Amino acid sequence: MQTLIENLIYRNERAGDWRVAETVTRDAFWDTYKPGCDEHYLLHEMRSSPGFVPELAYVAELGGVKDTPLAGASYCTRAAVVDGTASREVLCLGPIAVRPDLQRRGIGRALLSLTIARSRELGFAAIFLYGDPGYYSASGFLPASDFDVHPAEGGDTPAFMIHPIDPVATAALRGRFIDDPVFHFDSAEADAFDRLFPPRERHRLPGQLFG
Ligand SMILES: CC(C)(COP(=O)(O)OP(=O)(O)OC[C@H]1O[C@@H](n2cnc3c(N)ncnc32)[C@H](O)[C@@H]1OP(=O)(O)O)[C@@H](O)C(=O)NCCC(=O)NCCS
Repeated sequence: MQTLIENLIYRNERAGDWRVAETVTRDAFWDTYKPGCDEHYLLHEMRSSPGFVPELAYVAELGGVKDTPLAGASYCTRAAVVDGTASREVLCLGPIAVRPDLQRRGIGRALLSLTIARSRELGFAAIFLYGDPGYYSASGFLPASDFDVHPAEGGDTPAFMIHPIDPVATAALRGRFIDDPVFHFDSAEADAFDRLFPPRERHRLPGQLFG
């Protein structure tokens, strides 16, 4: 890991951060999972979803930097694990993004540990996410299938993970994971939103999961 950055402040997102946080998210995800990305649009829409949890919207602010004051940001929405008629509320983490030039300096991990600690205080049973197990396992995430929780659309993947915040409540979870409807968006609307940002070329790269 490179040197830690001084003057970093972790705090809840404010309305004045919205556009910068969307830009950081766009820059972090661009060409990572597909040519271009949609996560900045997802974030934009997510804030007005009833499932959005503002207490878990965190930014990392670079103290004393005027033009691009945010180094990273992370967000959670409410989700459910459904088994027959039983439905239990859980959290879904994402997007989480760190500005490309500031990655691998511990900002992502700090945003994760803040989110986990605050989720515990707020009484959530578990946090789910889709991500790279190599990265998230170090922050206590485990395969969701070990807990008998599976993606709603079927098809278990190691990328689908759970952080069991409350082990007792988590042990009682079982079923299908239903995320916020905001995740199921129209890609044409995402493309239209992207046109509000400075134009940027999209690249098809090896290792992209989609596209
Ligand atoms: C994923 C992300 C949020 C991590 O934030 P970060 O601040 O760069 O990560 P941290 O500095 O906290 O942790 C870095 C360490 O984790 C490891 N790491 C980072 N990304 C990893 C990955 N995808 N797989 C495995 N290990 C990873 C590295 O080994 C690194 O340690 P090292 O520098 O000693 O090698 C950031 O890289 C990012 O914004 N990526 C693009 C967007 C994205 O993919 N978001 C997550 C979607 S699930």
